[in-house]
Amino acid sequence: MMLHIPDVLTKQQVAHCRQIMDAASWIDGNATSGHQSTLAKNNMQLPETAPEARQLGDIVLDALEKSPLFISAALPLKVFPPLFNRYAGGQAFGTHVDNAIRSFPNSDFRIRTDLSCTLFLAEPEDYDGGELIVEDTYGEHRAKLPAGDLVLYPSTSLHRVTPVTRGARVASFFWLQSMVRDDGQRNMLFQLDTSIQQLVQRLGNGDPQVVQLTGIYHNLLRRWADS
Ligand code: NI
Repeated sequence: MMLHIPDVLTKQQVAHCRQIMDAASWIDGNATSGHQSTLAKNNMQLPETAPEARQLGDIVLDALEKSPLFISAALPLKVFPPLFNRYAGGQAFGTHVDNAIRSFPNSDFRIRTDLSCTLFLAEPEDYDGGELIVEDTYGEHRAKLPAGDLVLYPSTSLHRVTPVTRGARVASFFWLQSMVRDDGQRNMLFQLDTSIQQLVQRLGNGDPQVVQLTGIYHNLLRRWADS
């Protein structure tokens, strides 16, 4: 499942992030690639441990904690400190799969990547190309979202970023380890939670069937979650 989560950052937060990024120094994006990715990747990146990257990363993590849609869909256990990249002048990232395990430099922070996230930090009209294309068993899915919006997709999928032929595509990208490792189980929980929230709107929290379904949601989560 590929999920669009709108308005993770406000336009003011995006502008603030862009100011910090404009003043920072960038390096070759291959600093964080695995071997296969290195062959495909051509972009620029803020160094993972740069103070600017960590300041920006905290803004993103704070915003994610406040997004019920993100929490419900991802059921995050551990979120990798967000990274930041920039594509311009024809830069692209060819088809690849993300590394299964990611470690943060000079720390014992390590996760299994269940879900990959891209948070767009440039408006789509400000650049040509730069689409994220994710392949799954139902074909290709494309994302080029407004600044401040995020797309979530399974890290198991092949994906690429098409060449940026005008302007610059600026984004934050990161991975997370979900409490529910299996994509199918996680998606069912998300659909169940979404349906329960809609029923609550119609029937209220105290409706006996809502209470029962909420119980089933938690009992499935208990059965499937690592914590
Ligand atoms: Ni990737």
